[in-house]
Amino acid sequence: MSKFASLLALLAVVPSLAYAQSPVYGQCGGIGWTGATTCVSGSVCSKQNDYYSQCIPGAGAPGTTVAPTTAPTAPATSAPGGSPTTGSAPSAPSSTPAAGNPFTGFQVYLSPYYAAEIAASAAAITDSSLQAKAASVANIPTFTWLDSVSKVPDLGTYLADASAIQTKTGQKQLVPIVVYDLPDRDCAAKASNGEFSIADGGAEKYKDYIDQIVAQIKQFPDVRVVAVIEPDSLANLVTNLNVQKCANAEATYKASVTYALQQLSSVGVYQYMDAGHAGWLGWPANIQPAATLFAEMFKSANSSPFVRGLATNVANYNALTAASPDPITQGNPNYDESHYINALGPMLQSAGFPAQFVVDQGRAGQQNLRQQWGDWCNIKGAGFGTRPTTSTGNPLIDAIIWVKPGGESDGTSNSSSPRYDSTCSLSDATIPAPEAGTWFQAYFETLVSKANPPL
Ligand code: BGC
Repeated sequence: MSKFASLLALLAVVPSLAYAQSPVYGQCGGIGWTGATTCVSGSVCSKQNDYYSQCIPGAGAPGTTVAPTTAPTAPATSAPGGSPTTGSAPSAPSSTPAAGNPFTGFQVYLSPYYAAEIAASAAAITDSSLQAKAASVANIPTFTWLDSVSKVPDLGTYLADASAIQTKTGQKQLVPIVVYDLPDRDCAAKASNGEFSIADGGAEKYKDYIDQIVAQIKQFPDVRVVAVIEPDSLANLVTNLNVQKCANAEATYKASVTYALQQLSSVGVYQYMDAGHAGWLGWPANIQPAATLFAEMFKSANSSPFVRGLATNVANYNALTAASPDPITQGNPNYDESHYINALGPMLQSAGFPAQFVVDQGRAGQQNLRQQWGDWCNIKGAGFGTRPTTSTGNPLIDAIIWVKPGGESDGTSNSSSPRYDSTCSLSDATIPAPEAGTWFQAYFETLVSKANPPL
């Protein structure tokens, strides 16, 4: 062998020496990633976002296109709409919304994306009792996050599937989505920074994102869509204008959310703007300015009745009704979501916005876990919470829902990531954690084992 040939041979083996294969659920790619780009046998490297690719067990893992036929059949009992009406033909949509709670009478469509994440995750659990509980989470309706333009075609797939289920069974279907792609997203934190920037034409790109969603929805007028609009964005405008990125984004956020509200109203989507949570906008100094802003946004959408109200506690950990105030809430009379909603509702009403609410309880099963109320990242010891239902016991609340897909990370604890937020390394955060939105197996297993009520 010549020197040249032996050098080539050496170069050929270098990559495999330098980069071992990533383990299941390990990182295998993304901007700034210098580690292994292949996965151990039995898992595939699946792109989750520009910053993060992850080794997912099997081949049909999330991140790849998942056939809608793999969706489990939604059990009527777990749907927020309660027992769906059987045998009745789906009613045609109209530009006039049906009066009352948009969840009533509908079965909530189960996200095939989340179902695939759960299936892959459950397969990796060896304890059979935990495995069965984990697998059962796929039957609990959870919102689908359209957190990038590339996810929008999935919506069309799900709507087609929901429409087919509806035709076959006579059970009216509701597809729950989160609209989440503002330019300069997550302006006061880093973990969920998105794909668009204001400086790079993000406002126009956002309109195109909304137009694509609208185009999908238009094709399936028989399926009801409920949307949570842009988690954290407007709340950041209430309290975080001292952050340069938020101050810079204020006008764009307002114009972009207005565009979303108007366009989605035009195709009959029932919408709830994200309103932070009790420990954020529920403070006495923040709640009136919040009511003023949300009423302004409602009016900017021509007071459309499809702008049904507000969503609270999205991806957060607060109780709907705390047995007693968590010590970290001290000083805030609105120490849980019920108090917050009961205080905010009348303020909105007097500002001209007769808002109804939905409340995320997906990860609120365990309480008194945090060091500070503002902590939001992969809180240790959290458990799945109250199941989605329209039996809320509060006339202001349309439904308890699960918005954050439990098991998807809130943010990475890797301090070298461009999206590293130090909140994700606090003592009450679970570490090590992968990038926001990607699967976090250890965290999911805790949510399952600590579920309250139990799974
Ligand atoms: C992430 C999104 C993800 C969502 C749901 C957010 O924190 O930024 O990418 O879709 O959580 O897991």
